[in-house]
Amino acid sequence: MGVWIWVLVFGFVWGIGAHGLDRHPHTERISGSAGDVLEDDPVGKLKVFVYELPSKYNKKILQKDPRCLNHMFAAEIFMHRFLLSSPVRTLNPEEADWFYTPIYTTCDLTPNGLPLPFKSPRMMRSAIQLISSNWPYWNRTEGADHFFVVPHDFGACFHYQEEKAIERGILPLLQRATLVQTFGQRNHVCLNEGSITIPPYAPPQKMQAHLIPQETPRSIFVYFRGLFYDVNNDPEGGYYARGARAAVWENFKDNPLFDISTEHPTTYYEDMQRAIFCLCPLGWAPWSPRLVEAVIFGCIPVIIADDIVLPFADAIPWEEIGVFVAEEDVPNLDTILTSIPPEVILRKQRLLANPSMKQAMLFPQPAQSGDAFHQILNGLARKLPHNKNVFLKHGEKALNWTAGPVGDLKPW
Ligand SMILES: *[C@@H]1O[C@H](CO)[C@@H](O)[C@H](O)[C@H]1NC(C)=O
Ligand SMILES: *[C@@H]1O[C@H](CO)[C@@H](O)[C@H](O)[C@H]1NC(C)=O
Repeated sequence: MGVWIWVLVFGFVWGIGAHGLDRHPHTERISGSAGDVLEDDPVGKLKVFVYELPSKYNKKILQKDPRCLNHMFAAEIFMHRFLLSSPVRTLNPEEADWFYTPIYTTCDLTPNGLPLPFKSPRMMRSAIQLISSNWPYWNRTEGADHFFVVPHDFGACFHYQEEKAIERGILPLLQRATLVQTFGQRNHVCLNEGSITIPPYAPPQKMQAHLIPQETPRSIFVYFRGLFYDVNNDPEGGYYARGARAAVWENFKDNPLFDISTEHPTTYYEDMQRAIFCLCPLGWAPWSPRLVEAVIFGCIPVIIADDIVLPFADAIPWEEIGVFVAEEDVPNLDTILTSIPPEVILRKQRLLANPSMKQAMLFPQPAQSGDAFHQILNGLARKLPHNKNVFLKHGEKALNWTAGPVGDLKPW
């Protein structure tokens, strides 16, 4: 029923779905047709057991800093709430396919609201120690049938600087678990095979409040608001966004087709609805909320982040709705975008108008059919049944509890 409420609320604004379009298979996606979101109902396909942890791992942390509910890392909190009342939840761990540990590792914020990852490894170790001594399920597989939501910039590498994140690697205790994370880049040590890449959290009500009539003409050709340089953290330049954002600014700051600036106007959401293309370049990490905002506001995302793994790439036809530009091609961005035929632009806009595309990018409360929670559950369900070799023999060990930086081994 949920999806229909969404359609009623947004349907007339965003237009109806992608019916009547050409259908042809696409090799990378699991099934479904070009342009459509793969729609599955996860209910009945998996059972999830939610560990009950002391509130210091979740609710107490949130009480200390309620800003954690609104930032782009909030998926970990909403996932917890969602699972507690989800029909896929089981109270009987003996019948569970998946085990979930509700732990809010991104809710340790600087005064500016940026999440600090430094305590996350110890917190995570502490929680795993607790579940592995109080329940028998962790030791059976050493986490291979457990999933964790880790929305930090570089997921479970627990550092926001790529170099440091790579040096750290994925926390050893999480090596066998399925990680649900916003970070996604191919051939990167911070993305394990089998992870589930999700969209960052963007507040649904707030975005809804900024909708403008669908007939409003898209008079802006290219739109972007954000940093081009990060002088504080990258004084020499060239490291931030691997130079791609600097190249956008240097090449197009005076180009009338490009509405780009560091100023974040109050009309940011409205402006995206008046734009044809919205730039989604990498920053420190390849992902950003712009991806979600572009889809919600029907602005064609121009993805500039080599090797990015996009959210729910097995279910969402990113190749059809977005434009992909290699980082080294940024100087040709004007030619690339002006050469796209109008019918291709119209087709992408029509696909973006599909409510199920938008639904899959959002974490509404309460959850609704086809939303990002459901896409995560679908991802988990598709990994079932677990391979028999994930179950360890009695006394067999696969993980090293003392591996990793010594600082991570201190108690939390
Ligand atoms: C799991 O294994 C650890 C040692 O690796 C042990 O300390 C713990 O008691 C075990 N848990 C259970 C529930 O038996
Ligand atoms: C576990 O990691 C520590 C630290 O790197 C290392 O000294 C130890 O030999 C490892 N243990 C095993 C069993 O591999």
